[in-house]
Amino acid sequence: MDSESFSARLIAWQEQHGRHDLPWQNTTDPYRIWVSEIMLQQTQVTAVIPFYQRFMARFPAIPALALAPVDEVMAHWSGLGYYARARNMHKAAQVVFAQNYSQLPTDPLELEKLPGIGRSTAAAIAAFSSGHRSAILDGNVKRVLARHFAIPGFPGTRAIENAMWTLAESLLPDKKMESYTQGLMDLGATVCTRSRPKCVRCPLQETCEALRLEMIEKYPEPRPSKPRIERHARAWLIGRGSGSVASKHHVRSGPEPEEFLLELRPPSGVWGGLWCLPENLCPELEANLLTEKEPQLIEHSFTHFKLFLTIQKAQWVGANDLQNLIVEESGQTVRNWFTLDEALGQGLPAPLRKLLQGLKKN
Ligand code: ADE
Ligand code: SF4
Repeated sequence: MDSESFSARLIAWQEQHGRHDLPWQNTTDPYRIWVSEIMLQQTQVTAVIPFYQRFMARFPAIPALALAPVDEVMAHWSGLGYYARARNMHKAAQVVFAQNYSQLPTDPLELEKLPGIGRSTAAAIAAFSSGHRSAILDGNVKRVLARHFAIPGFPGTRAIENAMWTLAESLLPDKKMESYTQGLMDLGATVCTRSRPKCVRCPLQETCEALRLEMIEKYPEPRPSKPRIERHARAWLIGRGSGSVASKHHVRSGPEPEEFLLELRPPSGVWGGLWCLPENLCPELEANLLTEKEPQLIEHSFTHFKLFLTIQKAQWVGANDLQNLIVEESGQTVRNWFTLDEALGQGLPAPLRKLLQGLKKN
């Protein structure tokens, strides 16, 4: 990288242009820093400030929070939203207090063991309270890194996130971790914003790959869109037994059929190894079916395509022999009649399970 490193430029910028007088700054008290980091997770700085001040006045340290009734903690959170954050903070304070500590740890690995503290939050608390060299990686930091290093791919995937953690750790300065960490946060919030980043004011512009390529809007890549390829198929829901699925449109009436015909797919391919509805019928079979008029359409998304399955309900009206239509291949039954309960006990594709569960309720 350029003469002055990534971190050196960010630190110099933070010291000159960053935020310095927020109520949770200018302290090394991990408790005060923790409360702010949790409140700031889903909420803007200006919205957080009054809540933060009321919360700190009522719960100034771990013991006060640990010993408070949960209702009072929730009341002080009321209006901030995402209430699991408050419940987790209360629990975390009680865990620390029960271990006979009246102060939060400052080691990121210890912090991460507490409810509601993830890797990035643990690193932020550790950096601000003790200058610990640990990397943060929240949504804003991912955006800055994706742009500055022109990192392709959606940062929400495990592989890219792991690579970003490694990169974030490689960029850490040897000292001034507080300014560096705050600088990354401030840059993401005020300069390298989601839309219209202010690159002319950015301390990283000389080395920013996305800016050099004039492709700022291409990074970070969005979550991959839903599959666009459509596939259409028809499947048969064939019943046999006491009642008739075709009863609404034909002569017979009575309870739902007792058994349905399912086929076992070969081990590989779509729904491999699962019991499915038959899709291709031999003419003899089709000749002995009484079909219902209106088919049912089911949609199901796979990674690479979307399946539109037309379900044709029908009633077997051929010879009522139990062995009828059962097919075996090399000792294994690959087509068979199942009652609803038996079918639901087999390996089924999710949309078929849903369909059969719906029949069971009726
Ligand atoms: N968002 C998360 N942590 C923050 C902090 N320490 N200052 C400003 N915004 C933040
Ligand atoms: Fe973000 Fe622009 Fe700075 Fe690159 S130069 S890091 S895109 S603000």
